[in-house]
Amino acid sequence: MTHYLTDAAVKPLSILDLVAMKKAGEKITCLTAYDASFSSMLDKAGIDAILVGDSLGMVVQGHDSTLPVSLTDMVYHTACVARGRRRSLLIADLPFMSCATTEHAARNAARLIQEGGAQVVKLEGARPEIVEFLSNQGIAVCGHLGLLPQSINQLGRYRVQGREHADAEKIIEQARQLEQAGAVVLVLECIPARLAAEITRSLHIPVIGIGAGVDCDGQVLVLYDMLDIGMGKRPVFSKNFLRAAGGSIDAAVEQYVTEVRQSLFPTEEHGF
Ligand code: KIV
Repeated sequence: MTHYLTDAAVKPLSILDLVAMKKAGEKITCLTAYDASFSSMLDKAGIDAILVGDSLGMVVQGHDSTLPVSLTDMVYHTACVARGRRRSLLIADLPFMSCATTEHAARNAARLIQEGGAQVVKLEGARPEIVEFLSNQGIAVCGHLGLLPQSINQLGRYRVQGREHADAEKIIEQARQLEQAGAVVLVLECIPARLAAEITRSLHIPVIGIGAGVDCDGQVLVLYDMLDIGMGKRPVFSKNFLRAAGGSIDAAVEQYVTEVRQSLFPTEEHGF
């Protein structure tokens, strides 16, 4: 029998639910969204976390990097997504240069939370001092290591990180430092699956991977990549779920949820 839950019956997830899922070995499902309609659709499909990523600079605004995205853009899109979702945990990105100092970071994180409705703010890079400062203010922070799109001008191109032993050791140490500084969740982007598995095992906080193999506690993809409706080429670590599900967006999202929960996605072909 189908049960239609009223809004009052839907309990919003908190970071504690994600930690409990890690402990229970249940996979965490996450997708990006940038507006209320997609947010509502993902929420109804049972997505555990929605990330308002600064990837919106590329897939919504049409830029060739995430660098032009402003804090005002992030607050606007986070508020749109917040209005569409009922249950999913809402994570929002702190964009390029929004964390240059701890004061900057605190002011900008507060805007994402107070005006945007974010429950967790995501901060790119190994910045344990900022994570600690925000955590001490009661802010839930998501770290982001591996490929750092906001550092594209230093990196030169988007490519896998942590292939060399020394780089892998560095990422392991950075992950440990972020957890110690108070991060409540960590995103690992584009690193070898074995490295991601080792980091996931060694941390108590949930680890969500993108191009980081099947052994992370959960998976995230950019929504437009997994629907293959972006302007650019779909990254190799993503999959065209729209085609796999026969052309229905609802079915594509539901298939993603099922495949992540059953560890059917990602496969080796989507990893490094
Ligand atoms: O901006 C974004 O969408 C992200 C994901 C790629 C993790 O940070």
